[in-house]
Amino acid sequence: MELLEHGAPVPDPLRPYLDVDRSRPRHECWVTGHMVAGLDGTAAIAGRVGALSTAPDQSLFRRMRQIADVVLIGAETVRREGYAPVRLSQEAQQQRRRRGQASLPPVAVVSRSLDLDLTSHVFAGAPDDARTTLITCSSADPRRLAAAREVATVLIAGEDRVDPARALRALAERGCAVVLCEGGPRWLGELVAADRLDELCLSVSPLMGGDPLPVSVTPAGAPLRRFALRSSMVEDDTLFLRYEALPPEDGAADRATAEDGNDE
Ligand SMILES: NC(=O)c1ccc[n+]([C@@H]2O[C@H](COP(=O)([O-])OP(=O)(O)OC[C@H]3O[C@@H](n4cnc5c(N)ncnc54)[C@H](OP(=O)(O)O)[C@@H]3O)[C@@H](O)[C@H]2O)c1
Repeated sequence: MELLEHGAPVPDPLRPYLDVDRSRPRHECWVTGHMVAGLDGTAAIAGRVGALSTAPDQSLFRRMRQIADVVLIGAETVRREGYAPVRLSQEAQQQRRRRGQASLPPVAVVSRSLDLDLTSHVFAGAPDDARTTLITCSSADPRRLAAAREVATVLIAGEDRVDPARALRALAERGCAVVLCEGGPRWLGELVAADRLDELCLSVSPLMGGDPLPVSVTPAGAPLRRFALRSSMVEDDTLFLRYEALPPEDGAADRATAEDGNDE
């Protein structure tokens, strides 16, 4: 055990995240989750994330998109939060171009139902060079699929549901090396269950009492996944934790599921 003492000031809180080497992913692309939770693990307050996020978290949330080749989100988050295309400062866009990335990462929305407002800003307002992507499955309603193709790039990644591995392979084939998943908890849980979350950047806000929705909702029966803490920062009583996934053999994930259930 050791104390996490307050240490040297961090002049640019994005820098530790920019400096992470994401060039050797375990699969076709690197997947970073970026979430905020209350002290009780809640992921939303009255169905929205805004009240959960402190000022430094909001700032980091917007700037973190600089690392991404695509920003991946579940459809319910789009419906509730009213998503918009990604915006970055001119300086951030320049830095991206210098690293060989597109100026702006597109948004990619995962949906089985395609029950989405296709006139909303996230679709209609996306720039031509960062058109929004819709990831869905082949059983989606054909009329909704046709309408979606008018405003978005559509990727089919499964029959009755989007298979996370297929979705990520399709994104990687389109040149996405770093995928930033901004939730929501159900889609993030699918990625965790599929062992496709490489990194979790978790902000812990100093409050309790939100919705009974944890930051990740894994499907029933999914094995445990283990992570190692790589960095921590604090501002305004908000903790900024960065974890990386341990390979299943180090975490002994499947074995631990049974043991944990027996011991406690
Ligand atoms: N704390 C945070 O950092 C954070 C971040 C994001 C969101 N949130 C909050 O989380 C809540 C929404 O999250 P949520 O967990 O309910 O929903 P979500 O993960 O945003 O979206 C769930 C939806 O995504 C689609 N989806 C997920 N897995 C799929 C699969 N395998 N195949 C096909 N489609 C799939 C489905 O869309 P269809 O229904 O269209 O088929 C499903 O209903 C909101 O309250 C939001 O404010 C919090």
